[in-house]
Amino acid sequence: MPDLSLLPPSARADGDDLRIGGCALSELAREFGTPAYVIDEQALRDRAAEYVAAFTGRHARSRICFAVKAFPSASVISVLTRAGLGCDVVGEGEMRIALAAGADPGSLVLHGNAKSDADIAAAIAAGAGYIVVDGFDDIDRIERLATRPVPVLLRVSPGIESATHAALATGGRRSKFGVPVEHVPEAIARLRAVPAADLRGLHAHIGSQITDVGQFEAAVEALASLERFEVYDFGGGLGVRYGPGDTAPSVDEYAGRLVAAAHKHLGTDIEILVEPGRSMVARACVTLYRVVTVKDAGTLHVAVDGGMGDNLEHSLYGQRFTPLVVGRWDARPVTADLVGRHCESGDVITPDVTLADPRVGDLVVVPVTGAYCFTMANNYNGALRPPVIFCDGGTARVGVRRETYDDLLAREVGARR
Ligand SMILES: Cc1ncc(COP(=O)(O)O)c(C=O)c1O
Repeated sequence: MPDLSLLPPSARADGDDLRIGGCALSELAREFGTPAYVIDEQALRDRAAEYVAAFTGRHARSRICFAVKAFPSASVISVLTRAGLGCDVVGEGEMRIALAAGADPGSLVLHGNAKSDADIAAAIAAGAGYIVVDGFDDIDRIERLATRPVPVLLRVSPGIESATHAALATGGRRSKFGVPVEHVPEAIARLRAVPAADLRGLHAHIGSQITDVGQFEAAVEALASLERFEVYDFGGGLGVRYGPGDTAPSVDEYAGRLVAAAHKHLGTDIEILVEPGRSMVARACVTLYRVVTVKDAGTLHVAVDGGMGDNLEHSLYGQRFTPLVVGRWDARPVTADLVGRHCESGDVITPDVTLADPRVGDLVVVPVTGAYCFTMANNYNGALRPPVIFCDGGTARVGVRRETYDDLLAREVGARR
C-alpha cells in the first residue's frame, strides 16, 4: 500500500485508484485531462484554521497573511481569505489577483525589493494595510506619491544565513532584500522625516523551506536589537516535508517558539504578523500526470505529459519529490528519472526515484506541489498551463481552467487565426 503521508490529508487508496477530497484521480484525469493541479479544498481551510489557532491562541493580536506568491490564483486565495487570512502581495499584479479573490484591501501587505511607482501608487489607491519599505528608494517613492500618511513597515535584512537553498535564502548579509541592520537607524530617521510615511513597525523574512525554528528565533532577536515598535512582521519560510524521510516542524511548534521569542525579546504588547506561503499550500495540492513514454537509455526515463512547464522546483532548486504510480501499489519497483516533455535534459521532475513499474498510460501523482509550481508554470514548447481542480466532499470543481491554444496566441498581435 502507498505511503499517503505526503499526500493531502483526505487522500485514500481505493482499490487501484486514489481519492483526494473524495474524488477518484482516474475520473479527474478523464474529466479534466492531465497534467492537472488537484487541490484538497478542506486541507486548505484546515491549514488556514490551524495557523490562525496556533498564533491567536498564544497572541491575540496576530495576523496571518498568505504569501500569495506561493499560489497566486484567486480561487486559492478566496478559500484562504474566507478562512480569515490576509495576503502578502508582491507588486500590483499579485495585489490585483488578491483583490479579485475578494481580499479585504486593509488585510494586504505590499512587498517587493524593486517596487515601481505603479506598485506603490496601486497599494495607496487600494488602501493596503501596510507597505513594506525595502530600501531608501521606496521612501522616496512614498514621499512623491502619497498625499496622506500611509502605514509602513521597514524590512530589515537581519544578517542570518538561513539553512536552505541559496536561491531561497533572503536574510543574509548581502541579500537584495531589506535594509541591512547597520543602516536601519538611518532608514528610520528618513521615514520619520516623511509626513506621508506612518512607520508602524519592522519586518524580517529570512528565506523559504526553513526547518530549523531556531533561525526564526534568531531573526526575532535581531529585530529586538533595534528600536522598538508596535508591529512586527516575521515573514514566512516554514519548511515542509517532500520525502518520507523528511521532518519539518509543525505549525504549532513554529508558532509556539516564534511567539515565545517575540514575547521574551519584544514584549507582549505588539501586533504580530506572519506570512506563510509554502507551508500553507504545499501539501494540499498534487499534480496529476499521465505517462507518455518509458525509455531505457542506461538510465530509465519515465516521461509524463508535463514537466518544467508546470513544476520548476527541481530545475531551479534541486527540490526532490516523491511520485506515486496510481494503482500500482504492490508492483515491482524500478529506479528511474521522472522527466517531462520539454526540450532540455534539465526537464526533470525528480531524478533517481523509485517508481512502481510505470507503464505508458499510467497516472502518476506528484505530492506536495502546492507551493510555487502553479506560480512558475510557463508555456515552454507551447505547453498549455494546467487547470486547478478543487476537490471537496466527493465533488470536483474547476478553479482555473486549462489554457487553450487561443490563449497561447492571444497576445500575438500579428498572428494569423
Ligand atoms: C516577504 C516574504 N514573505 C513570505 C514569503 C513566503 O515564504 P514561504 O513560502 O517560504 O512561507 C516570502 C517568500 O519568499 C517572502 O519573500
